[in-house]
Amino acid sequence: MNTRVEKALNEQIKKEAESSHFYLAIASWAEEKGLNGTATFFYAQSDEERFHMLKLIHFVNERGGKALIPGINAPQNDFDGIKQVFGLLLEHEVAVTESINKLVEICLEEKDYTTQNFLQWYVAEQLEEEAQAKTILDRINLTGEDKGGLYLFDRDMEQMASQKEQMPEQ
Ligand code: FEO
Repeated sequence: MNTRVEKALNEQIKKEAESSHFYLAIASWAEEKGLNGTATFFYAQSDEERFHMLKLIHFVNERGGKALIPGINAPQNDFDGIKQVFGLLLEHEVAVTESINKLVEICLEEKDYTTQNFLQWYVAEQLEEEAQAKTILDRINLTGEDKGGLYLFDRDMEQMASQKEQMPEQ
């Protein structure tokens, strides 16, 4: 495997691991606050990121490279409220999209079309994740963060998370 591509893929493995860890911290925060729908959503999101990481690990190893399992720093554990956590979700996903796009660029520069083709799954996934975060933020702006709004929002999140679980990853 091209060494520059391999290095970039290993950096992406780390980013997916950090994403999984970060969303796990948000899930735990929400659970502790009694926001069970939001917690379920972020636990599922954390699992998805782990799946993204595993998919990269298998690809690197199967293509003759060596996947490196990264160390991860402790994530932020305290948050102000749902608007902040979903804002962070969008911010984080936008950053991941940028890094996937850079990875695609590297593949094109190195003429590694197999990896570039493999990464198209991530390109599509990022589009979906950003759109989802934006939809949720719009919903928060509509329902507001008072008690009634929060209750309705959290119930919607429960539903969204269960739909996520029913959908196959590929
Ligand atoms: Fe794996 Fe949400 O980026």
